[in-house]
Amino acid sequence: MPKFYIEGGVPLEGRVRISGRKNSALAVIPASLLADSPSVLENLPAIEDVRTYARILQALGVRVKLEGDRLSIDPTTLTTFRAPDNLVKRMRASYYLLGVMLAKYGYAEVALPGGCDIGQRPIDQHLKGFRALGADVVVEYGVVKARADRLVGATIYLDVASVGATINIMLAASMAEGLTVIENAAKESHIVDLANYLNAMGVRIVGAGTDVIKIHGTDRLTGCSHAVIPDEIEAATYMMAAVATRGSVKLENVVPKHLDPIAAKLREAGAEVVEDGDTLTVTCRQRPRAVNVKTLPYPGFPTDAQQPMTVVLALADGTSMLTETVWESRFKHVDELLRMGCRIRVEGRTAIIEGVERLYGAHVRATDLRAGAALVVAALAAEGTSVISGVEHIDRGYEKMETKLRGLGARIERVEDEDRVPAPEPRLRSVGR
Ligand code: EPZ
Repeated sequence: MPKFYIEGGVPLEGRVRISGRKNSALAVIPASLLADSPSVLENLPAIEDVRTYARILQALGVRVKLEGDRLSIDPTTLTTFRAPDNLVKRMRASYYLLGVMLAKYGYAEVALPGGCDIGQRPIDQHLKGFRALGADVVVEYGVVKARADRLVGATIYLDVASVGATINIMLAASMAEGLTVIENAAKESHIVDLANYLNAMGVRIVGAGTDVIKIHGTDRLTGCSHAVIPDEIEAATYMMAAVATRGSVKLENVVPKHLDPIAAKLREAGAEVVEDGDTLTVTCRQRPRAVNVKTLPYPGFPTDAQQPMTVVLALADGTSMLTETVWESRFKHVDELLRMGCRIRVEGRTAIIEGVERLYGAHVRATDLRAGAALVVAALAAEGTSVISGVEHIDRGYEKMETKLRGLGARIERVEDEDRVPAPEPRLRSVGR
């Protein structure tokens, strides 16, 4: 399995192009099946989850062609309802097939999804939405089965502003009769992105990006071209790597507005963040200040940026409190960070982070996608060498991370097998930076 071998202590300098947003791509790809003609999706990130979704569509009999960041999808050749469980279990977003198949064919059968191990990941709000639209839904032997002769628009109040449930209900409601209103809807940028794509295909959706979304269903959707928005979580990760290594990085192909919560927090910590069109430059030449962080649904500080942000706080001058309000166990990266010299104590959903002057390279393991990102940021900032295993988690959501980081001056290489990884040579602890 792949590992990253990183020689830390080098300030990141230069430009990096941000790829398309993973969580938008994983919604618009299944949405394309609602149409009765082909779509072309662009600016897709070259990541494992996109390749997995392309394989799922192929397994359904859909003709797909993935060329660079462009995926051509012809849904007219679909031959079966049931996607292979082994592919579905690789990522949580496979459950969007429920909303799509229910809308298009009146029947859906999808194994309960997999995804990052960051807490109990219920789908009760998804099922509540499908039932409100008139579907019969059962969960048997780990498989969700939903059936409806026809879907009829309804008003659905979400108990929690769930991104996944908002998206799944939007997909199902796109072909329901009449008006569906989702109240307490999630407002993340990729929900707006999906609504734009569905509107371009012929649905009429208003209110995406607010907590009340209205969907006027239609019985015919026409395929079209759509470019997904840039990935604000990938961008956040590189912003935090710039701060943690005391460098200066210009991010290209971003929507600065989507990064407001990240930029505000990094400015509070003492970094300089300059917006210019679709670029953002982050510079921090001194030790960051301690700041408190609480993750919240958009437009709050995003939970997916919490783990790399932990590293910035671990190097800060002072003690920070980081509270994770979205997921109940998203601190698995802390044990690995402790091995690198961090001083962090987790109490329930809060991490008390006592900043240290420096971190030290070590052998560490990524347990999930964003935990892996945090370990990379820590290794880049640490003195000495680190070996990060579990890079397959990182590959799910970050395009060519080692290539992009080398472009910023990082000393990082990907090692595909066990034998070639040289053990980090023991380093004397330097007395000064
Ligand atoms: C999406 O997950 C993202 N994944 C996650 O990103 C992200 O952390 C999350 O949204 C929050 O922003 C994808 O888009 C593929 P939720 P999702 O439904 O949809 C509770 C990453 O790193 N809930 O908004 O699963 C749930 O337990 C991944 O890219 C219910 O109670 O998140 C959680 O506490 C990790 N019932 C909260 O809502 C439900 O039916 C938010 O979950 C659904 C969710």
